[in-house]
Amino acid sequence: MELLNTDDVGTVITVVGARGGIGKSTIATNLAAAMASSADRSVLVMDMDTGYGNVALMLNVKPHTTITEIAAYSDLTESTLRAGLQRNESGAFVLGAPDGPGPWARVTATQVQELIQFSARFFDYVVIDTSGIFTDIVAAAMGVADRVLVVNSLDMASTKQTSQMFELLEAERFDSERLYLVVNQVNTAITIRPEDVQGIVGQPVFWTIPYDQEVPASHSVGRPVILAQPKSSAAEQLLGLARRVTANEGDDQDDAAQTPGRLARIVPWPWRNRQAQSGETDSIVAQRPTRLSPREGRAASGESRFRGGR
Ligand SMILES: Nc1ncnc2c1ncn2[C@@H]1O[C@H](COP(=O)(O)OP(=O)(O)OP(=O)(O)O)[C@@H](O)[C@H]1O
Ligand SMILES: [Mg+2]
Repeated sequence: MELLNTDDVGTVITVVGARGGIGKSTIATNLAAAMASSADRSVLVMDMDTGYGNVALMLNVKPHTTITEIAAYSDLTESTLRAGLQRNESGAFVLGAPDGPGPWARVTATQVQELIQFSARFFDYVVIDTSGIFTDIVAAAMGVADRVLVVNSLDMASTKQTSQMFELLEAERFDSERLYLVVNQVNTAITIRPEDVQGIVGQPVFWTIPYDQEVPASHSVGRPVILAQPKSSAAEQLLGLARRVTANEGDDQDDAAQTPGRLARIVPWPWRNRQAQSGETDSIVAQRPTRLSPREGRAASGESRFRGGR
């Protein structure tokens, strides 16, 4: 398949969550597969789970080169990048994680941002899966994202942690218009409702995905549920999510009218106004997607405190 976007950059979608086991990888892989399955879209999914990333497993590919190796290249070329990718049956390209956390110790947040921005030159969409611990790598992947899907599961512990995550992002003056709260029901034991999540987190729920036993069943055969069981309830919602997050790319104007702008109008966070008035943007996560070259990106983001922790 020919890669698109030779003279433009793709959209970066980063999937995050305040804890493990809430469906981040499920959403990232299905989103990537759904977008790649639709016509004329090139999609790269990157596994930035700095623990034990399982994107490759979920998409049934075996990486011969890992993301930590690619990120370490100081003069990464398109051909080197492409040579490191695997391809899922959906057409999505995959850049898998190493076997465990060890190699991530040698990767900096700057390298991660450079890799994302470089990759976005060659793909219409770059989807990034992350770990459930808020590291500088997660912050880096958020900092250059056009859209950040914040995943929450329907239980009190997850919702409390999500609420704390939004408080952190507020303190760091992260641009709320890039945040999309997605509620995923990972088990049948529902303890709270999506409306409760909205009330506790103080952020409108952008999308919900129901519990569906077809999800773990699809993982066990290495197929995204949107391909394995496209008519299942989870698949239908995941396909809907893919349509919504790509809506204002020009293919669905009705949905586009309801995406980020509406989110921001429903909950006009006070800090967003403060930020607009003061013009402060000194955090890596507060930066708008820069669309800079890797070299420029390094210079622009080098002062963030989120970069210095590693
Ligand atoms: N909507 C759903 N219905 C049923 N099971 C689900 C659903 N979403 C995810 N699961 C299951 O929940 C488990 C965790 O999902 P997943 O690996 O996507 O979470 P994660 O947030 O990426 O976890 P980690 O932080 O450990 O990487 C998996 O077994 C998956 O099959
Ligand atoms: Mg995961």
